[in-house]
Amino acid sequence: MKVAVVGLGSIGWAVAEYLRTQPGITVCGVEVNATRAGKAIAKIGIEVARSVQALDDIDFYSICLYTPESIIETCAAMPEVSRVVVESTVPMRLLGSKYLNRHRMAFFPHRWMEGDPEHGVRQARLFGCDQQDVLLFDDYLKSIGLRDVVQFVDKPVAVASKLTENAHRYMEIVLAQELKLACRGGNIQFEALRQAVNTKWNIDIKEARYGVGGHCLPKDMHWFIEAFPSHSLARVFRALNESYITREVDGKMDE
Ligand SMILES: NC(=O)c1ccc[n+]([C@@H]2O[C@H](COP(=O)([O-])OP(=O)(O)OC[C@H]3O[C@@H](n4cnc5c(N)ncnc54)[C@H](O)[C@@H]3O)[C@@H](O)[C@H]2O)c1
Repeated sequence: MKVAVVGLGSIGWAVAEYLRTQPGITVCGVEVNATRAGKAIAKIGIEVARSVQALDDIDFYSICLYTPESIIETCAAMPEVSRVVVESTVPMRLLGSKYLNRHRMAFFPHRWMEGDPEHGVRQARLFGCDQQDVLLFDDYLKSIGLRDVVQFVDKPVAVASKLTENAHRYMEIVLAQELKLACRGGNIQFEALRQAVNTKWNIDIKEARYGVGGHCLPKDMHWFIEAFPSHSLARVFRALNESYITREVDGKMDE
């Protein structure tokens, strides 16, 4: 079975390395960044093309791209009715794309964590596809050694689950940040309070620095709000987090 991993960034690299270890699987890559492609050829030991058009006889495509636009462009360029597994986090609107729906599509969002061997490619994950494609993708998952860790769900549930996971995490971080801000100037230190409360079995107050940073959680929170526009708390949490960024720049977060 030949699998093409499209996008050899953090996720695609991990997927390609994992697939390389699976008996009976031939892996190749697609990567537009020449330096990244060269590294994958040298370190993972796979062939890498610059575009999907340059590949032949692919049984399954594993899409590990960052932007929805690059996923749409890639799906538009693939041969009609390819078998495509999107491992990226995507907005719900992608489910309606005619370029994706030309193919037999599945959504297999990642829970990968850099440098954490327990949370790599092989961990409990959700796999979303149409009912009529379950057998096809069941075979794929067996061939790549992941069937036993995967639960099948509907496509919208798979996509929304990833957005919800990240929105939930985003809101947990903001909750912690708010508690930290509320402790300012009082008699109780946030860190002492956090550690004390976390001794209770069902409570886990996160650490607090300057709210949610980076790219992934804010992007996924944005798509969560797009998917669930009536979730008013999510909007409030996002606005609070955006205020931390302004206050951090103004030096007002550590007062
Ligand atoms: N990094 C994480 O920890 C993590 C965890 C869970 C989910 N995700 C999700 O996984 C997806 C990928 O994230 P990432 O961190 O691996 O992104 P990344 O930016 O590291 O990798 C994307 C790669 O795709 C390449 N690329 C861009 N356009 C291309 C094209 N048209 N054809 C071929 N290659 C192309 C880029 O050069 C880059 O190497 C995102 O949806 C992200 O939200 C990431």
